[in-house]
Amino acid sequence: MYTTSGIKTPYYLYDLDILHNTLTMAVNAASAHGYQIHYAIKANHNPIITRIISEYGMGADCVSGNEVSEALHRGFPTEKIVYAGVGKGDEEILQALANDIFCFNVESLEELQVIDELAGQQGTIARVALRVNPDVYANTHKYITTGLEENKFGIQRSQLREALDFCLQSDRLDFMGLHFHIGSQITDMMPFEKLCERVNEIWEEFEISATGARILNLGGGLGVNYADPVNNAYPDFESFFNVFARHLKIPQHVDVHFELGRSLVAQCGSLITRVLYTKKGVQKDFVVTDAGMTELMRPSLYQALHKIENLTNLNGEESQYDVVGPVCESSDVFGKNVNLPETRRGDLLAIRSCGAYAESMMLRYNMRTRAKSHFLSKGEISTVCHKEQRNGFAKPIRVSMSN
Ligand code: LLP
Repeated sequence: MYTTSGIKTPYYLYDLDILHNTLTMAVNAASAHGYQIHYAIKANHNPIITRIISEYGMGADCVSGNEVSEALHRGFPTEKIVYAGVGKGDEEILQALANDIFCFNVESLEELQVIDELAGQQGTIARVALRVNPDVYANTHKYITTGLEENKFGIQRSQLREALDFCLQSDRLDFMGLHFHIGSQITDMMPFEKLCERVNEIWEEFEISATGARILNLGGGLGVNYADPVNNAYPDFESFFNVFARHLKIPQHVDVHFELGRSLVAQCGSLITRVLYTKKGVQKDFVVTDAGMTELMRPSLYQALHKIENLTNLNGEESQYDVVGPVCESSDVFGKNVNLPETRRGDLLAIRSCGAYAESMMLRYNMRTRAKSHFLSKGEISTVCHKEQRNGFAKPIRVSMSN
C-alpha cells in the first residue's frame, strides 16, 4: 500500500499503472473482435485521466455539452465522439452539430424532431443512432438499471418504426444505426447475452440491414469487484466481449461500439481520508472521517460497498466500526460494521475502487471544499501528467509505495 505525508485530505489518489494496464487489456480484448470502445466520460472527467484514455485511441461517450467540449479539449477526435442522454438542450445540440461530432444517440421521437430542425437551421446533416429500450433485466441496483420498459431511457420498441421512418425520410438526418445500454455494474454475463438476443430480434423485426445502418452501439455496464479490488484489479474484458462475439447475429460490415466507463477507471482510484474522531455508540463504535458523501456518493445513493483499509495501523487489533463522513445527513455512511485494525484519530484510510463515479459525482453540499486529485505511478509520473500539471490542473505528489 501507499503512505503519504503532508498532503491535505481528503483526496483522490490515482494509480496510473493500474489505469494503463486496464486500458491496454480493454483495447486488446476489444480489437480482437474489431470492436471500438468509447470511454463514458461521466465515470471520471479528471483531465489527466481523460487525456491518458484518449491516447489509447478510444472514442468518447458524452452526456452533456460540457462533456463534449471536455472530450474535444482532451484530444478525443471529433469523429469518435458520441452524444447521448435523455435531455439534450437545444444549445447543447447546436454546439455538437457545430463540432460535427460522430453521432447523437437519440432517446425520443421528439428529440429526433428537434435535432432534425436544428440541423436544418444550421444547414448541416446530423448523424443519429436510435437508442432503443430493450426491456432487458440487468441484475444490478435499481438506480443503475436503464434498459427496462419502466426506465426513462431510450425509445420504446412500439415507437421504433415511427422513429426509423422519420430518420429515413429526413434529408437532414443520417441514420447510423442502433444504440442500447441496459445498466451499470453488471457482473453476471447473462444480461449481456439476453441483450444480444434482443438486439438480434430487433435487427430482424425492423429490417435494420435494409436501412443502411453502419453501427451497433451496445453501451457499457461491465462491473468491477468492489469487495476485493486488490486481487481483482482488472475486469475480465475478454469474457465480456466474447459474449457479444458469440451471440450477436448482425452483418459483418456493421461496426460494433461499446461505451465503457466504470470498468476502465474504477480500480485505479482510491479516496484517501483522515480519521477525525472515533466515538462510542450504544451498539457500535463510529469512525468519523474527513471525507463524506460529498466525495463519494455511491454508498449513500446505492448502498454501494467499497473496501476500506487503514493505511497507518496495519497491524492493530481488529474491531468493527461504522465508518461515517462529516456531512449532515444520516445516509453519509461509507460502511457499516466494517472490520478494521484498531482505528484512531489521525489514521489515514483508503476507500478503494473510487476511480469511477466518485470524483465525477463530487458535491459541494455543506459548502465543502473541493477535494484534489493526486497521481501515482511506480516509475516516473508520466509525461502526460507533466503536461497537464503545467497547465495547472493538478499538483504532482511524491508517494512512497510499499507492499
Ligand atoms: N452508456 C450509457 C448510455 C450510460 O448511461 C452509461 C452509464 C454508460 C455508457 C457507462 O456505463 P458503465 O460502463 O460505467 O457501467 N453513478 C452510478 C453509475 C451510473 C451509470 C450511468 N450510465 C454508480 O456510481 O454506480
